[in-house]
Amino acid sequence: MHNRGSNKISSRIAQIRLVSSHPEVYEPCDDSFALVDALLADRSNLLEHRPTLCMEVGCGSGYVIASLALMLGEEVPGVQYIATDTNRCAVEVTHETLQAHGVHAELINTDIASGLEKRLAGLIDVMVVNPPYVPTPEDEVGREGIASAWAGGENGRRVIDKILPIADKLLSDRGWLYMVTLTTNNPSQICLQMREKGYASRIIVQRSTEEESLHIIKFWRDFGIKPDAKENVTVNRTAPARILDTLLSQVHWLSLKKSGTSNSS
Ligand SMILES: C[S@@+](CC[C@H](N)C(=O)[O-])C[C@H]1O[C@@H](n2cnc3c(N)ncnc32)[C@H](O)[C@@H]1O
Repeated sequence: MHNRGSNKISSRIAQIRLVSSHPEVYEPCDDSFALVDALLADRSNLLEHRPTLCMEVGCGSGYVIASLALMLGEEVPGVQYIATDTNRCAVEVTHETLQAHGVHAELINTDIASGLEKRLAGLIDVMVVNPPYVPTPEDEVGREGIASAWAGGENGRRVIDKILPIADKLLSDRGWLYMVTLTTNNPSQICLQMREKGYASRIIVQRSTEEESLHIIKFWRDFGIKPDAKENVTVNRTAPARILDTLLSQVHWLSLKKSGTSNSS
């Protein structure tokens, strides 16, 4: 799936196999690879960061969340993973990818973090997102199936603009967000928008293909920036490490369990 160099970690990531596929699920592509490359480039910081709870929004095949879990591996003990996707088939494929690589994440078939926002507020230390970013007619956004993997509406910003405020609510004080954007999405304006919420940003990977110019941007809270007045949200900034079990036991009806699947409907 992904040709890489010779170091040990990279070769483990390269071994991520497409164990399951589905015509309606996004296969890892340049954007997925660029996101994993950004995480690899930032790996030593991630290890030092010692995240407790990592989340992927829009997990597709599971390539990114499986890579992240392998990358942090045993070097960050106790880290837990959660991934969401609106596409039920994507949740199933992700489940198989994770299982085949001996890693685990709680998988939820939901829109961004719908049904989880209160419980996860202020708890996510690392969030990764490769959103649907392709400019399309507005009515293509959120359609069932594979189109939802890329359809981003005007300037490709429809889903991105929905994700950003939710990320702000879910990220912990030390939370980091890694997001794929396209030049057409106006990444500098996204950074400005996040700056108004109190985040600094940095481009970790910039890559141009024949079709698109991608930026993988990392956002983190910068307490030197005075954010706009925030909504009054209750956040769980001091929740204990093994929090996912408790949190997700309350939303088990949304979770993909080993015995089968169910969704929020
Ligand atoms: C570009 S694909 C990325 C898939 C995978 N993360 C990767 O990098 O290969 C975008 C994914 O986001 C999902 N998605 C689209 N809108 C979403 C939403 N509102 N909430 C959660 N997932 C969404 C799609 O179903 C698709 O799997």
